[in-house]
Amino acid sequence: MARKPFIAGNWKMNMTADSGKELIAQLKPLVKEAKCNVALCVPAILIPAMVKAAKGSKIKIGAQNVHWAASGAYTGEISCEQLKEYGVKYAIIGHSERRQYFGETDEGVNKRTLAALANDITPIVCVGETLEERENGETEKVLTKQLTDGLNGVEDITKVVIAYEPVWAIGTGKTATDEQAQETIAFIRKKLAKLFDTKSAKKVIIQYGGSMNAKNCKGLMAQPDIDGGLIGGASLKIDFATIVNFDK
Ligand code: PGA
Repeated sequence: MARKPFIAGNWKMNMTADSGKELIAQLKPLVKEAKCNVALCVPAILIPAMVKAAKGSKIKIGAQNVHWAASGAYTGEISCEQLKEYGVKYAIIGHSERRQYFGETDEGVNKRTLAALANDITPIVCVGETLEERENGETEKVLTKQLTDGLNGVEDITKVVIAYEPVWAIGTGKTATDEQAQETIAFIRKKLAKLFDTKSAKKVIIQYGGSMNAKNCKGLMAQPDIDGGLIGGASLKIDFATIVNFDK
């Protein structure tokens, strides 16, 4: 069964209600014919306004994180229930910036992922190695740990989206080559087959992320194991539509 490509934007801590609405209004007609699934993961405070702005279009609105508890004393966090109230379908989990700057661990990634799944929110689980780890030949070891611990207890892996984001490629303009991205994502798929089963692993959507843009998207998307992209910088611009229409 062919996997349906999935292009998701990650606005990070950018945009305002006004600039966000304007961009979505511009994107809407341009992504109308897209054959892939499309999402924009926006800052939590913009979710209600962006859901409204994207209504009736191909663009689904996602969150950039989600907490595992249903409610409670977790200052600054957001629950699945709160996201679902606005029809949020996706949540990025374990982005390298969360791991790097906010101390998120594979254990936390696991709890957030299980909570999202239990609430019918598709988790976009991010994994990836740092430059030092790649240079030390530790890429596979690092990814194995992130996948094993982060996805522990997941019953149906086909409900999870994986984003392979080499940390050294994020926001640096240094994209992984098509071959590097393909090779690593093929490794991730093989690992998923071992952790779960081969049939399911073949169905999992695996995105590439890290300086993916309107120019390099075609080459990356042509790789057999790359099913989509998680786009940071280029999702803040009209370029995002070009990436969504990578097959045109
Ligand atoms: P970038 O970010 O496209 O700006 O490199 C990707 C990401 O962090 O998801």
